[in-house]
Amino acid sequence: MATAAKSPLSFTVNRNAAPVAVADRTKVLADPGFGRVFTDHMAVIRYSEGKGWHSAEITARKPLMLDPASAVLHYAQEIFEGLKAYKLADGSMATFRPEANAKRFRDSARRLAMPELPEDLFVGSIDRLIDIDRDWFPTVDGGSLYIRPFMFANEVFLGVKPSAEYMYLVIMSPVGGYFKSGAPAVSIWVSQNYTRAARGGTGAAKCGGNYATGLVAQAEASKHGCDQVVYLDAVERRWVEELGGMNVFFAFSDGSLQTPPLGGTILPGITRESLLTLAKAEGLTVREEPYAIDQWKADAESGRLTEAFACGTAAVVTPIGRVASADGEFKIGAGGPGQTTTRIKQKLVDIQRGVAPDPLGWVHRIG
Ligand code: PLP
Ligand code: COI
Repeated sequence: MATAAKSPLSFTVNRNAAPVAVADRTKVLADPGFGRVFTDHMAVIRYSEGKGWHSAEITARKPLMLDPASAVLHYAQEIFEGLKAYKLADGSMATFRPEANAKRFRDSARRLAMPELPEDLFVGSIDRLIDIDRDWFPTVDGGSLYIRPFMFANEVFLGVKPSAEYMYLVIMSPVGGYFKSGAPAVSIWVSQNYTRAARGGTGAAKCGGNYATGLVAQAEASKHGCDQVVYLDAVERRWVEELGGMNVFFAFSDGSLQTPPLGGTILPGITRESLLTLAKAEGLTVREEPYAIDQWKADAESGRLTEAFACGTAAVVTPIGRVASADGEFKIGAGGPGQTTTRIKQKLVDIQRGVAPDPLGWVHRIG
């Protein structure tokens, strides 16, 4: 089984002969939005059964040619990751805990019956790509380079079985904030019609299929004027699990923090794990325990719960101000960012951006 072992592959580099003009790039970097603008290059590695990983290259970002019978187009054998690169206070470039994303990518691969990409190829492909597209860091405040590694099945065959051929790619997008509204806190819609994952399913894997089935729930949230959907467990329809693209935390008046436990149905977020570590180091009481939606409402109304926030690579740490459902809505605290959320976010961001010390070695410098 391929794991974190070192791979002897080296990358061929084919520079983009027609990169985006400097003036156009400068303009987009000042206000990139999220996920609509891309850098000049991409990384590609192929996998073939019997041959293993091969043909690693950094090349011009361009459309792919796919046979219409490529397995991914029919059975959705696809996984992805999301992480960010930052320009640090001292001008160097770094990613945040890329080894953790490499591990989750291998875990997702196993769940989707795909080959595991060795850690050095995952991290190395990203480092090489950032190095070549180093002029693509946004200039907007709080901006970063969002990195999207992904892998899909491309054997040309309509039988239902694990593909014998795969493509792994990395693309990058300069980004600002994830939420368009720019509001100090987001609103969330409790999905009572749809669930995201059940025990034995793919909830803990970062596979495209999870997001495809969530689109209708997210559309329902938008229709009700909410920024994100929050899912409840699939069995009792009562326990808060996570948001469409983020984990969730609760902060209480006694200073404690709580987040739903991992158990196969939610994504093990790297931001979630980092915040748990930082909060514990600060001496906060932190619980990884189930939290019921009716309790959330009661605690928000009684004042026992003072804050709630979403966390993830794209969202970083975003306060939740309002929770709505078909049964009505409730506000959290004063409806804006609270003290604990603001403090813990700052702690994380300061490490990510090289402003604060990094005792756990989370910051991976490039070049
Ligand atoms: N949950 C879901 C469903 C996500 O898509 C994400 C984002 O990647 C997260 C949680 C947070 O994970 P991370 O902090 O690793 O970005
Ligand atoms: C991320 O935070 O990296 C994600 O994949 C979430 C998605 C909503 C952009």
